[in-house]
Amino acid sequence: MCGIIGVLSTDEGDTARIIRECLKRLEYRGYDSVGIATQYNGKLHIKKDKGKIDDINRKLNFDTLPGNIGIGHTRWATHGEPSRVNSHPHTDCKNRIAMVHNGIVENFIELREQLIEEGHKFQSETDSEVIPHLIENFLDEKDSIEEAVQSALPQLVGTYALAIIEKDSQKIVFARKESPLVIGIGESALYCASDIPAFLPMTNRVIFINDGDLVVLQPADIKMTRIRGQPSPIQIREPVLIDWTAEMAQKGGMPHFMLKEIHEQPKAVQNTLKIRQEEIQHLATLLNDSNNLILTAAGTSYHACLYGGYLFANLARMNVNQVISSEFSEKLGGTITDTSTILAISQSGETSDTLSAVGYAKNHGAKITAITNVMGSSITRAADYFLYTLAGPEIGVAATKTFVVQITTLALLGLTLAEIRGVYDKSEIRQWYNQLMNIPLQIEQIIEKQEDYIKTTADILAQKPNFLFLGRGINTPTAMEGALKLKEISYIHAEAYPAGESKHGPIALVEPEFPVVFIAPSDNTLDRLLGNVMEMKARGARIISVTDNTKIQNLSDYVFSIPQGIAPILTPILNVIPLQLFSYYAAVKRNYNPDKPRNLAKSVTVL
Ligand code: BG6
Repeated sequence: MCGIIGVLSTDEGDTARIIRECLKRLEYRGYDSVGIATQYNGKLHIKKDKGKIDDINRKLNFDTLPGNIGIGHTRWATHGEPSRVNSHPHTDCKNRIAMVHNGIVENFIELREQLIEEGHKFQSETDSEVIPHLIENFLDEKDSIEEAVQSALPQLVGTYALAIIEKDSQKIVFARKESPLVIGIGESALYCASDIPAFLPMTNRVIFINDGDLVVLQPADIKMTRIRGQPSPIQIREPVLIDWTAEMAQKGGMPHFMLKEIHEQPKAVQNTLKIRQEEIQHLATLLNDSNNLILTAAGTSYHACLYGGYLFANLARMNVNQVISSEFSEKLGGTITDTSTILAISQSGETSDTLSAVGYAKNHGAKITAITNVMGSSITRAADYFLYTLAGPEIGVAATKTFVVQITTLALLGLTLAEIRGVYDKSEIRQWYNQLMNIPLQIEQIIEKQEDYIKTTADILAQKPNFLFLGRGINTPTAMEGALKLKEISYIHAEAYPAGESKHGPIALVEPEFPVVFIAPSDNTLDRLLGNVMEMKARGARIISVTDNTKIQNLSDYVFSIPQGIAPILTPILNVIPLQLFSYYAAVKRNYNPDKPRNLAKSVTVL
């Protein structure tokens, strides 16, 4: 998830500054590198580098870029580590065009090989750079830059929002497929950007661009057509007025980043499900080859490790150890050897406890693998092999979408390990894959259908001082994540236990009206869980359940429903969604800011 902008203004000398400020307002979309290109006097002028906008601007001074037409990009790396060459804009071999891209070109490896064979020279490791080279193939034979773009786009597989300028023309060409783009109509400038906040201080008159649209901004004119091969004809739309503040717009009109990120989960999972199977296969093979596999992490990422433990045991009959990273050397000291393999999970890739566990294991000869959401983060340098989740930047301190893409990635790994180890029939594994592909839509439906009800329930229960979260089997980590979310942002004391353990102590806490949250999908643990619900009900507890089961629903005071028929190994990906929303609304009801919880940081870089 990067931020792109294009500006065509009547004001010759100020366009670069305007682009820089627009990028600053898009920095929440990605902040590991930045670049601007302008067109002036038949030449392209480009400045770009790795780092945050303000730091790079101090170094490069973007505002000196000449011309009244330009494009800009703030990056969230997915292919090619953050570096100057991997920063956007990218150009063709002869610097005739410059392009910025937000999205993923899934067939970039094939296209790159083909273009190199044709003699193109590549500067970067990115997927995006294939685009200007593809367009370059048509520049000489086509009458206009937009015609050349039209000819190149059908070769791309994947998602994109693009902005392209050419050294000789007063035009900016935009195209959209699945990644967002919106036009802003200002007094003295036309804008096109990934999101409204970019140009909102200058204008709130916007035109939303649909998937498959191709737009050409030229002085005082906007030409809209469809990308060749797109089914439906162009729909000319009137500008609409947006009554948001810039800050509201960064949150997509939502009051907090956390709520926005909860709503982004269908897209984040969809993107993560596009991780190349070869990469999943490679990591699964490394894990399979180990005879001492340890999953380690901190906070929410540790709950993903616990999910991984249940999953790998169920799907692949693998006995894996899961250790909280701050306890790693204490707990495993002396057992780590060169036959050990570590799978470290960290959304930021910067958590010191996890990096030090990895360092300890590496010093004892272990192979290091990792799952992270931040490209180029420290853990990617410590690991021998790593996978990126594709959730995009997470601003809210409490992890939501990054947890869900972590367990989605583990599910992909688990299914691949099941295939490698031949534990299950191929057709059964295929069925689970198909179910996994449906998860984005099911998350969307849970949020759509139940958000209001979950809010009402949170409003009712938000003043309760204590909660218990109970689950069994693969949903014990889900209960732990639900309890952590509530603690993290609403400061309500919450404990999670394997439900079977509750009668060995925690049940002593329960008295009439004491809220107990059950994670209770219809799986092989249901009958025993029903007994636990009865035990709590017998002591007057308030039962809140996350379930698809009527028996549990009939015993509950509040029910957060999940779809029926989901494979037990996949239910945690859905079950956590209502728990995230519940904790969010409990925090709001208690007048706390869910984005900036007290005493916590997005990534703890001290031991
Ligand atoms: C904490 C965050 O600082 O670190 C948690 O507040 C997070 O949300 C934990 O789960 C681990 O972070 P990471 O980046 O290693 O997954």
